[in-house]
Amino acid sequence: MIHIFKKGINDNTLLLLHGTGGDEHDLLDVGNIIDPNANILSVRGNVKEAEMNRFFRRLSPGVFDLEDLDVRTRELYDFINEASRKYGFNRKKVIAIGYSNGANIAASMLFTIENALLGAILLRPMVPRKDKELVTNSNTSIFIAAGLYDNICPPEETNELVSYLKVKNKEVRLEWIKANHRLTYDELLLIKEWYNERFI
Ligand code: MLT
Repeated sequence: MIHIFKKGINDNTLLLLHGTGGDEHDLLDVGNIIDPNANILSVRGNVKEAEMNRFFRRLSPGVFDLEDLDVRTRELYDFINEASRKYGFNRKKVIAIGYSNGANIAASMLFTIENALLGAILLRPMVPRKDKELVTNSNTSIFIAAGLYDNICPPEETNELVSYLKVKNKEVRLEWIKANHRLTYDELLLIKEWYNERFI
């Protein structure tokens, strides 16, 4: 997969996953705010919708192609494993930061692959799928930043996602941000505090 890798000075690796129409450069500043000392693995989604990069296909806005989601989730997981061997980072200390479509593929990994991530920061996520029993991630801490006025992901969907994840993961923190689908600087500071308490 097309990506950027930057070596850091601590043992954590931030896996950065952009939103629809973005690329591997989009979340570099976000990663730098949250942990300027971590390794960065920022990946470009392999799917094109018109000219826009995505991590998996959708049939229409909010309606996901579940077969493709399965394949792409596994592809991303394999890529992380391969990258950890190539660049020599600690595979056990990967924390995903995904925005929108990138949050949805990170959530799909949490739903379907055991202990794939040490942490997941899901910015404006949706429920990736409802047709499978979730796997257990006993070590994974999750932070969800939902927008109170987000018209792409309604509040009921966020609450549904949290209720699924709470049963199978170590910890799920939900924060309602006074924002729409766009990220705010203040929420990144809140996330940084949460991150420092767990991973530094
Ligand atoms: C998705 O397709 O993953 C969601 O609708 C969010 C987005 O538009 O990227």
